[in-house]
Parts: sequence; structure tokens; C-alpha cells
Amino acid sequence: MASLEGRPVGYAILAIAAGVMSFERIGVMPDQRRRRVGTKLVAHAILLARVRMLDFMSTVLRESNVAAQQFFHDCGFRADRITDELRGWFGSEDGVLMMRPVVLPVPTSNSP
Ligand SMILES: CC(C)(COP(=O)(O)OP(=O)(O)OC[C@H]1O[C@@H](n2cnc3c(N)ncnc32)[C@H](O)[C@@H]1OP(=O)(O)O)[C@@H](O)C(=O)NCCC(=O)NCCS
Repeated sequence: MASLEGRPVGYAILAIAAGVMSFERIGVMPDQRRRRVGTKLVAHAILLARVRMLDFMSTVLRESNVAAQQFFHDCGFRADRITDELRGWFGSEDGVLMMRPVVLPVPTSNSP
């Protein structure tokens, strides 16, 4: 839960299975969006995953939820192709699986 001056402004529901931490839900109050509240919730979840020595984080989003896909992309998650398992994940709609390593590799450079 994220709060601002004592008022709840965002939340994330996490689950851990098979060594992967997943975002089951994440939400920020409409009037508090685009202020990095969601990013802070993800950053906090990454810390929890590191403490638990997990390797990966994931989420499954509605195919139509492009805004959330962009948000998770911004947080280092990448979408996988839609496999048979994800077809109809949300009833009439397919799911998009997005994952990221808990620890992202540090970019290397050949320059001195
Ligand atoms: C997705 C959600 C949690 C993002 O929370 P947020 O606090 O607004 O996100 P942030 O301010 O940390 O955004 C970080 C970056 O993500 C991207 N992003 C966030 N919202 C976006 C949107 N609506 N459209 C496009 N990109 C978006 C942007 O790159 C943004 O950086 P910028 O503001 O500098 O451009 C929020 O929009 C939300 O609650 N959505 C409704 C619930 C939902 O769809 N949850 C996911 C499924 S459970």
C-alpha cells in the first residue's frame, strides 16, 4: 500500500509461486497517476523479491490495457508472445505475460 499524507493512494497485490513474484493487481488512485506512485510500488516489490532471493517478476495484463503494459515496460518488464495458455485468460480477452529479472544486468561497454 502506498500512502500520501495518511491517505491511501495506491496498492499492489503480490503472489509468489515457483520462485517468481507476480503482480496479481496494481492500482493507483486516478488523481494520483503519473506521479511515480506505481513505480515506487514496483521498486518496493523488487526489494522484497531480492530479500527472498527470487530470480524473476511477472504480471499478466489484459491485451487491451496498453497503458499498464507501457507502465510495466517502463519498469523493466518485457512482453512475451501470447501462448495458448494465455488465450482467453480474461474470458473474452487474451492475457499478455510480462516478465523481468529481479536484478537487471548492468550494461557493459567496450570503451575504456
Ligand atoms: C498502471 C498504473 C498502476 C501506473 O501507475 P502510475 O503511478 O500512474 O505510474 P507512474 O507514474 O509510476 O508511471 C511511470 C511510467 O509508466 C508509463 N505510464 C504510466 N501510465 C501510463 C499511461 N496511462 N499511458 C502510457 N504510459 C504510462 C510512463 O512511461 C510513466 O512515465 P512518465 O509519466 O514519465 O511518462 C496506473 O495507471 C493504474 O492504476 N491503472 C489502472 C489499474 C491497472 O490497469 N492496473 C494494471 C492491471 S491490475
